[in-house]
Amino acid sequence: MLSKTIQEAINTQIKHEFYSSYLYLSMAAYFEANSWPGLAVWMRVQSGEEMAHARKFFEYIVDRGGRVVLEAIDAPPSEFKSVHDVFQQVLVHEQEVTALINDINALAIKENDYATQAMLQWFINEQVEEEKNASLIVDQLKRIGESSNSLFMLDHRLGKRGTA
Ligand code: FEO
Repeated sequence: MLSKTIQEAINTQIKHEFYSSYLYLSMAAYFEANSWPGLAVWMRVQSGEEMAHARKFFEYIVDRGGRVVLEAIDAPPSEFKSVHDVFQQVLVHEQEVTALINDINALAIKENDYATQAMLQWFINEQVEEEKNASLIVDQLKRIGESSNSLFMLDHRLGKRGTA
């Protein structure tokens, strides 16, 4: 059985994962509106993965005999300054999500909740990947600038996500 504190923390994390999905879908809409179809594909895939994260937490609460209570999701921003600004925000957002997951893990350690710690290991590893991917794109964008041919090539490459 989940403790009330852990159940509340995971319910709130479901909201954060849905917000991540919403944020990335909003970024996909921005890319579509600005004629970056490849970047929009990448963001759609990212948005779908966040939905899967929310579902993973949902199922965990159910498996432990807990009660899922969905919380209100904030509206994400709809306007961004540039392609670089978007990916910089992705990186910062993922760093914040890592901190939230670490906080739940710290709580699970404090409560000797071994099952929650085991479940969270998947997310801790996933956050390493998430930060690495965002950080790599930010670094590449810094190198190529906003309007060069390389940016069109990046759009093409990221547009292949999920098809390989
Ligand atoms: Fe659900 Fe991007 O972390």
